[in-house]
Amino acid sequence: MTMYFANKKRYGIIDYQRCGRSGLKLPFLSLGLWHNFGGVDVFENGREILRYAFDNGITHFDLANNYGPPPGSAEENFGKIFKKDFKPYRDEMIISTKAGYGMWDGPYGDWGSKKYLVSSLDQSLKRMGLDYVDIFYHHRPDPDTPLEETMAALDLIVRQGKALYVGISNYNADETKEAVKILNDMGTPCLINQIRYSMFERWSEENLLDTAQELGVGIIAFSPLAQGLLTDKYLDGIPENSRAAKSWGFLQEDQVENAIDKIRALNEIAVTRGQSLAQMAIAWLLKDKKITSVLVGASSTNQLEDNLASLDYLTFSSEEINEINDILS
Ligand SMILES: NC(=O)c1ccc[n+]([C@@H]2O[C@H](COP(=O)([O-])OP(=O)(O)OC[C@H]3O[C@@H](n4cnc5c(N)ncnc54)[C@H](OP(=O)(O)O)[C@@H]3O)[C@@H](O)[C@H]2O)c1
Repeated sequence: MTMYFANKKRYGIIDYQRCGRSGLKLPFLSLGLWHNFGGVDVFENGREILRYAFDNGITHFDLANNYGPPPGSAEENFGKIFKKDFKPYRDEMIISTKAGYGMWDGPYGDWGSKKYLVSSLDQSLKRMGLDYVDIFYHHRPDPDTPLEETMAALDLIVRQGKALYVGISNYNADETKEAVKILNDMGTPCLINQIRYSMFERWSEENLLDTAQELGVGIIAFSPLAQGLLTDKYLDGIPENSRAAKSWGFLQEDQVENAIDKIRALNEIAVTRGQSLAQMAIAWLLKDKKITSVLVGASSTNQLEDNLASLDYLTFSSEEINEINDILS
């Protein structure tokens, strides 16, 4: 690939929204590296997607220690691409990583102990070739480790300068309240909660979104397209190379079969709005100001182009909202 010079017009394409009560703004659309950037994937394809994202104003890139497969390889590949293409742009990028799921054998490579979080972030920084990450997350609540210890690890990491901000992921409303209180008492605010939220996954609407807003914590919605279900790709079956067809993906064929009637009905509404289903699914999330950013995945630049265009049309009529709710009920 030729040498990379970022698009000079990259700002002004998409908007940036303040994350909770922090000073940090995140782009409406962020890019996740859970799939498509691992050792099993085509390196130059991932590189092209990252270049395309940054050229179009996407400043936030989300990783975790275990992304791959194999675990760790997405961070390694990101590190290689960062070194080749993005080093001059480090101060324009918000790079996040996480720990909380199983990463290495033995009692110190999983869940939420200080031992695990601190050593995992050290490993992540090495793999990515970074001095610090912008956001470090605890990836999921740990029922056994005292929350005080997990939050103290996040506080320590910030004080050590290894992360600028900290966040939590997959924490429900009560867990979020507790975590935020502990962090506030230590003087390290909780920036953000990263949650699964899409038309197909609406548990957070019950009370988490309001709670986060009251606490001044941002919300970033992951798997907004339900891993590709909320797009037009499965309308006529399961295409080769799609996530549902891959042996290592996290989307199973029966999930497609179970959802296909709803997908087709939603697609009809998207068509009448003049949008692709992916665009409508993203717009549907961003219509709510409590959502700071929508965290998409993409296996091609074409998909990212499609997803970016959702930002052109974010409003819904009450009839459309009702029709969508009827389909989803
Ligand atoms: N905190 C957590 O526990 C957690 C968990 C999961 C994910 N995440 C984060 O959220 C990010 C996004 O998750 P996700 O990848 O599941 O998000 P997603 O946006 O719901 O799904 C992305 C997949 O949908 C398909 N797709 C995307 N745009 C498309 C389009 N316009 N048309 C057709 N197909 C399209 C692609 O699948 P194909 O490969 O089939 O083309 C793509 O890989 C992850 O990378 C990660 O950073 C966090």
